[in-house]
This record gives sequence, C-alpha cells and structure tokens, in this order.
Amino acid sequence: MTDRIIPVSRPLAQYSAHRKEIRAAVLRVLESGRYILGDEVHQFEGEFAGFSGCKHCIGVANGTEALMLALMGCGVGSGDEVITVSHTAVGTVAAIELAGGVPVFVDIDPQTRCMDARLIEDKISSRTKAVLPVHIYGQPAPMEQICDVARRYKLLVIEDCAQACGAEIRGGRVGTFGEAAAVSFYPTKNMGAIGDGGAVLTSNPEIARRVQWLREYGWEERHVSKIPGINSRLDELQAAILRVKLPFLGHDNARRRMIAQKYTEVIQGTAILPPAEVPETLHAMHLYVVECADRISLREFLQTRGIATAVHYPFAVHQQAAYKERIRGSESLPETEALYDRILTLPLYPELSRGDVQRICSALKTWCEQH
Ligand SMILES: Cc1ncc(COP(=O)(O)O)c(C=O)c1O
Repeated sequence: MTDRIIPVSRPLAQYSAHRKEIRAAVLRVLESGRYILGDEVHQFEGEFAGFSGCKHCIGVANGTEALMLALMGCGVGSGDEVITVSHTAVGTVAAIELAGGVPVFVDIDPQTRCMDARLIEDKISSRTKAVLPVHIYGQPAPMEQICDVARRYKLLVIEDCAQACGAEIRGGRVGTFGEAAAVSFYPTKNMGAIGDGGAVLTSNPEIARRVQWLREYGWEERHVSKIPGINSRLDELQAAILRVKLPFLGHDNARRRMIAQKYTEVIQGTAILPPAEVPETLHAMHLYVVECADRISLREFLQTRGIATAVHYPFAVHQQAAYKERIRGSESLPETEALYDRILTLPLYPELSRGDVQRICSALKTWCEQH
C-alpha cells in the first residue's frame, strides 16, 4: 500500500538529528590521541551520574557487563543466588551467571510486567544474596516493595535499568533505589551510543571503587592488579557521542511518552490492551508494547500499512534452549508465560514524525473497528 516502512526504532534518525555535534565530537576524540579512559569518559561519567541521581557512574563496554560488574562489585559471587525475572532480555540472566551467581526466577505482575514483589519471599533460600529487578520496556519495577523485602532478609538490590534511563518512581530516578544499577547504551536504547556501551551506577564509594578496578584487570593503579578483573571499558568515542545526546534525553523521553499517549487514546477499550498507567511512576517508554489475543492478525494488518512491529521477546528466558529446565523457579511463571503469545511492540522513537504517528494511529483505529 505504501513504499516507506515505518520501523520499530531508528537510531539513524538520532544521529541525523545531532549530526553536526556528533561529527565534531568524534573528530575531537580522533585528534586527541587519547582513545581509552580519557577526558570524554571521565566527563561523561560525571554528567551521567548527575542525570541519574547517583554519586558514581563507571562507564563499561555494554549493558550485560555493566550488570555483571555491578553484581561482582557488590560482592555477589560463586554459588550466590540472585532472584530475578524470566521476562527480560537474555543479557540480564547471562550477567548473573557470568558473575558466578545462580539465577532464580519469580513471576511478574501482569500490570507492570515487572517483578511481582509479593512473590520474592517464597523464592528466598539460605543461598540468596541479591534481588535483580528489571524495569522492563521503561516501566519502573515496584522498588519500594522490593527494597522492603530485601531489607527484611538482608539481600542486596541491583537494578537492571537497561531499558529505563530517565524513568522515575515518585520523583526518584530508577537506579537510585538499590546498592547498584546497570545501564545499556545499545544504539536503540533511550540513551543510545553508536556501538556498544554501558554503565554501572551506585552511590556507594566502595562499590564504585571495586567496579572501577574490575573493569580494568582489577587495577588499583596502572599495571597493579588488586583483585582479579576483566577488560570492560566504555571507549572515548562512545563517551563523546553520549555526551552530545545526554542533554536531550529528558526531552526525548517526554516525546516518547507523548507519542505513546496518542496510541493509548486510540486503542483504549478495544481488543488491543495498551501498557498500564501505573500511578506515581514515570515511564521511560523505551518500548510501547501492547497485548492482543489476535496478535498475528494485528501484525499482518499493520505490515500491509507499511508499519513494522516486533516481539520483545519471542520467548521468556526460561523457555530458551540455553536456560530450559535448569533455573529454579521456572516451573511457576504463569503470568510470564501468558504474555508471550500476546505481546507486540509498535514503532516508538523520539524522531517519529507527526505524519507517521498519525499513520500508525489511523491503522490501529481501522483494525480495532474491524475486531
Ligand atoms: C533489560 C536488559 N538487560 C540487559 C541488557 C543487556 O545490554 P547490552 O545489550 O548492552 O549488553 C539489555 C539489552 O538488550 C536489556 O534490554
């Protein structure tokens, strides 16, 4: 019907919006002669810590390693159980195992699609060391309830903020509720680099120091390894690019929410269920994920209108071959499993034009009228 497909996300649009500044930033790094852990990373870490409301930010190579290093920095290690969700990107669970930990799954609350805090207690064992909630799609997990259980059982809390830069609970930014948090700068994320990147956030100086050592061979100072570490550094080019984008993150998130609101107005009360509006939380709207019993029909219809969709994710982690039948808790995830043949991700990015938003809204309206 139309020759131009509206994609689900479009990192090129963000580059185009800041082309001049990004090119200048890249050139500045190229000509500086300093490509690893220089001024750009240092400045970015300060600026991003400020944005996040945490005292420390440590730039690392990607979101998975940010989570792994956050866990290791908090002292999670061999055989320690970490309670998390199966409704997440595989990176969340991979990071726990990379740190030497043992993932344990709890189910989600169908309203937030995040960890159901009421189910945590039942999964705690003598080996449980930490809880790792995921702010999925940009919706904050119920951190006050999660931290309350964690406090009672003396568990650490590490937040997966990969999809939730800028999300808030009662004015408090996600990433500030637990001992530490991890962020991904994968290009399609709300805060996207032009390549891989990630960061650990914490306000605890001891954890920050350990993560700083861990990201670079455990070095306390150059060539002096205090603890066993790895190489996971944010590079100067990505830090310089992220510095260009950071001042626009608040505005971009607001634009995401505005577009999301338009979709919700169209589908409210129809066969398509919009993301719930959860009181006292500010959604980062990384992904606009609807639920629909007739997902295949909706998907095919949108495709005929030149509108791409995606499924985040086709399988829960416990259903993936790599994790099947070996993670405790996998047998009791009815809400997680109920989501998987219903979810559909609609296009959402700040640069989506008014015309394209209109096109998507009118296609949704037409499908709803027919169903
Ligand atoms: C919820 C979540 N956790 C962790 C990750 C891992 O981040 P990265 O891809 O930067 O390693 C991602 C990104 O896909 C994610 O969405």
